[in-house]
Amino acid sequence: MLDLVESKLSQHEAFRADVLAGLSQRQKTLPSRWLYDQRGSELFEEITHLDEYYLTRTETAILRRHAGEMAALCGDNVVLLEYGAGAGIKSEILIDALKAPRMYVPIDIAADFLAQTAERVRDRFPGLVTRPIITDFTADFDIPSDIPAHPRAAFFPGSTLGNLGGSEAAALLRRMREHVGDHGEAIIGVDLRKDVATLIAAYDDRRGVTAEFNLNLLRRINRELEGDLDIMAFAHEARWNEPESAIEMHLVSRKPQVATVAGRSFAFAQGETIHTETCRKFDIAALTHAAQRSGWRVDRIWSDPAELFAVFGLRTEARALRLSSAAAQA
Ligand code: AVI
Repeated sequence: MLDLVESKLSQHEAFRADVLAGLSQRQKTLPSRWLYDQRGSELFEEITHLDEYYLTRTETAILRRHAGEMAALCGDNVVLLEYGAGAGIKSEILIDALKAPRMYVPIDIAADFLAQTAERVRDRFPGLVTRPIITDFTADFDIPSDIPAHPRAAFFPGSTLGNLGGSEAAALLRRMREHVGDHGEAIIGVDLRKDVATLIAAYDDRRGVTAEFNLNLLRRINRELEGDLDIMAFAHEARWNEPESAIEMHLVSRKPQVATVAGRSFAFAQGETIHTETCRKFDIAALTHAAQRSGWRVDRIWSDPAELFAVFGLRTEARALRLSSAAAQA
C-alpha cells in the first residue's frame, strides 16, 4: 500500500517536471506515457476497436494463428515477463498456449491498471503464479530475486516499441536481453511501414476518438497541475515524418494564446504545436539489425497476409549459437 502511495507521489512529481520542461522547449514536447491516465487508458482501449486502427486486430489474429509456435519458442515452464500490462487478450492468448508456464510477471508504472491486469489473469488462469512489478519499464530496473532466473521469455506486443525513441528502444531491447539471461527468448510485436493514407487514418479516425485521446493530455494537465489550458483552442493532428519513419501526434494551437501550468506561463503562437507521441513504423531489416545490436537473433517472424504487422520471435545470441552448433553436430 505504501509502495502504491509512494509511486503515485513520485509519478506526480515526474509528471510536473516533464510538463514544465517539455513546454519550455522550442518544439514543445510531452512524453507520450502521460497520455495514459484512467481516461486516456479507456480512450486507448476504444481506439483499439476502431475500424481505422488495424494494429490490434491484426496482431491479435497473428497471435491466435501462431500461438503454438510462439509457445514452442518459449519452451516449457517459462517465466513470462510482459513489458506493459495493457495487452489483455493478447497476453491471454500466449499464456493459454504456453506449456506449464511457471509465472506471469506483468511490468507497468500504472499501478491501478497493473492490479486490474493481474486480477484478470489470476481469474482466467487460477493455477498460474502472477507477480506484478510496479515500475517504469523504459528506465533501468532489475527483476526481483524471488522471480525464478530461468527459463524466462519477454513479451512486448502492441508496437509499443515504436513509441520509444531510437536509443530508448535499443536500451529496452538490451534490458530485456539481460532480464531473460543467456538462454531466453522474446516475442515482440511491431507495426510495419505502409502507405501513408492508411497510417494517417489509423491515427486520425473519423469518430475523433484519437483526437479526444490526444486532447485528454491537456485535461490531465489542467486537473493535476492546476493548468488553465483552453482545450477548445487546440486541435489534434497526425502527421507522417518520413526520415523518422513515424506517425507523430501533435496538438496544434488554433490561435495565439498564453496558458498557466503549475504557476508558470507558456505562450503559444497560432499553429505552434505540442508534440505528444511518436509511433514508429518498422521494416523487417531495420528491426532485425536493431535486435542484433542488442544481443538478439531473429528466430521467426510471423505476419498477416497483407504484411501490415509483424511479430518477431527472438532468441538470445548465446542460445542461437548453441542451437546452431548442436544442429551442426547432429
Ligand atoms: C500504444 N501504442 C502502441 C499506440 C500506437 O499505435 O503507437 C498508441 C496510439 N496512439 C494513438 N493511437 C494509438
